[in-house]
Amino acid sequence: MEIRRFSVIGAGQMGSGIAQVAAQSGLEVALHDLEEDRVQKGLRGIEKNLKRSVDKGRITAEEMAQVLGRIRTTTDLKEAAEHADIVVEAVVENMSVKQEVFRKLDEWCPEHAILASNTSSLPITEIAAVTKRPEKVIGMHFMNPVPVMKLVEVIRGLATADEVYAEVEALARKMGKTPVEVKDFPGFVSNRVLMPMINEAVYAVYEGVATPEAVDEVMKLGMNHPMGPLTLADFIGLDTCLYIMETLYEGFGDPKYRPCPLLRKYVKAGWLGRKTGRGFYVYDS
Ligand code: NAI
Repeated sequence: MEIRRFSVIGAGQMGSGIAQVAAQSGLEVALHDLEEDRVQKGLRGIEKNLKRSVDKGRITAEEMAQVLGRIRTTTDLKEAAEHADIVVEAVVENMSVKQEVFRKLDEWCPEHAILASNTSSLPITEIAAVTKRPEKVIGMHFMNPVPVMKLVEVIRGLATADEVYAEVEALARKMGKTPVEVKDFPGFVSNRVLMPMINEAVYAVYEGVATPEAVDEVMKLGMNHPMGPLTLADFIGLDTCLYIMETLYEGFGDPKYRPCPLLRKYVKAGWLGRKTGRGFYVYDS
């Protein structure tokens, strides 16, 4: 099957990045979110990114117009589903919300369509179980920021068919990414390794071992990380970090994955990181 029509559900930081990269690789993209202002915000983010590429001479203004011409926005999920060869879901990291989206996608998408989730940690097998096509459900986990980061973790659910895996792997390559195959266990590989490190950094602040600035400095200068773990946590979103820790904790039943109380407190306060202007650091806008 040739994948030409690519729908993205959720126009937040990940969904808009995925839509941009898909359109840049020549696919016809539908970008969906619940409300008009959210899809417009996603689209503005894409325009801003492309404009920066034009200013830096990486693409021409004409190419930018062509890419934007391949993206249409919609608040109607049925409309986004009906014409898709593949749908990539990038809504909030919450199992019941994702399952509800997949139930509807399964009902409205053409029979041949692949249903992929960009989930950071939730079991693909459990998402697939609410559909009548679990063999066509797969994890396609892009990294943030999508236009920059090369990796796509491709996650096989228990029932994912080999040919579906092969199609998604080829698609990731077409989008200029490097796919890596991972089985469906909590946190996959990326977040199973990354998130406990971030959680431990939060514990170091919680226990008064060091300030956020000091923790980040140690990891940048000492371990050669391009970004400190708390800066990275703010960038990912503290709500997403907490969801992932909860998933690891629940999925493995091991106390080593317990989320730090300070992380919970920040999320309850609405300090979600960059996207709300405050997390471990304060941001201008
Ligand atoms: P975000 O909060 O920026 O965007 C989520 C979007 O989904 C919002 O615009 C929201 O309105 C929309 N949404 C919520 N429920 C919806 C529904 N039922 N139908 C349609 N749209 C709906 O979140 P972000 O960071 O883009 O994360 C999205 C997904 O990507 C999550 O599963 C997250 O775990 C995953 N992810 C996040 C990464 C990160 O660094 N933030 C990295 C890789 C994956």
